[in-house]
Amino acid sequence: MRFFKVCFAIAAIAMLVAAPAVKAAEIVIKFSHVTSGQAHPKYLAADEFAKRVNERMKGKVRVEVYPGGQLFDDKQVLIELIKGKAVQMAAPSLSKFEAITKKFRIFDLPFLFDNIDAVNQFQASKHGKAILNSLSKKGILGLAYWHNGLKQMSAKNALLKPADAKGLKFRVQQSDVLVAQFKQLGATPQKMAFKEVYGALQTGVVDGQENTWSNIYSKKFFEVQDGVTETDHGIIDYAVIVSKRFWEGLPADIRGELETIMAEVTNDRNGLSRKLNLDNRQKVLDAGGTIRTLSGEQRQAWSKAMQPVWDQFADEIGHDLIKAARGYNM
Ligand code: LMR
Repeated sequence: MRFFKVCFAIAAIAMLVAAPAVKAAEIVIKFSHVTSGQAHPKYLAADEFAKRVNERMKGKVRVEVYPGGQLFDDKQVLIELIKGKAVQMAAPSLSKFEAITKKFRIFDLPFLFDNIDAVNQFQASKHGKAILNSLSKKGILGLAYWHNGLKQMSAKNALLKPADAKGLKFRVQQSDVLVAQFKQLGATPQKMAFKEVYGALQTGVVDGQENTWSNIYSKKFFEVQDGVTETDHGIIDYAVIVSKRFWEGLPADIRGELETIMAEVTNDRNGLSRKLNLDNRQKVLDAGGTIRTLSGEQRQAWSKAMQPVWDQFADEIGHDLIKAARGYNM
């Protein structure tokens, strides 16, 4: 009997040694976003993040990018991300967070930032970090800010002075600050998903829109507008977000490696966003689009016309926060 027990034990050990090591399953991160176009800041940054993770963390983590809203639009993605099952990562524009928090409203105040460098410094400040970290209460974690760039305005007729926008219908993103901005011009704002904008401009559901050069070119908005006016009146930037439940369930070393790659990609790609938008501006011209530039005085008139929006939201956003943001324009 003892002999058989010993034989059995030896056989069991032999089987264990011979068995192939059980490999930990590869972690898949589905990254959903709504833009497209080979020269788009977000499209390229998301692809670069996936490329670096898939090379350096091969066999451990795989990032799959779903651009062009093919997985979820920006409204659905927030709901799905909190659940963390169908999608784990996204990069909605800061104006889309209105659906879950008012903390991002500061970014939509018209003529708040003079340029993307000022935006960059504000985002890197304690205030910018606090806004990103506030998402944690909502089941989402903010990993980084990604730049797109400054917004331009277009419509079915030329926009040179604020009165030119009066009576027109404009597509806006989710934020109520943007709604107020167009109301202030005597226009009618309409919230609408990004993927519906081209059709809505084409069929006259709306008459105009505001967006960055990279979105205006990649979505061909300029083709169905009279022209684009270079107003630089606001920004479209992104928060790269992950499902908190998913992220906190990852092994610490994996999380750390992903955070390192995210920081590297953010640093590399954010520095290129301005050039990419200027390239897209040139592409609009090359494709026969009309661009109208404003004199200093004309631009000042748009800024003055939109200024009451600040008064409307300043108490809620915080006067000190606005002052801090303005401070980076110097
Ligand atoms: C928009 O909806 O106009 C933008 O937020 C799209 C984007 O992600 O740049």
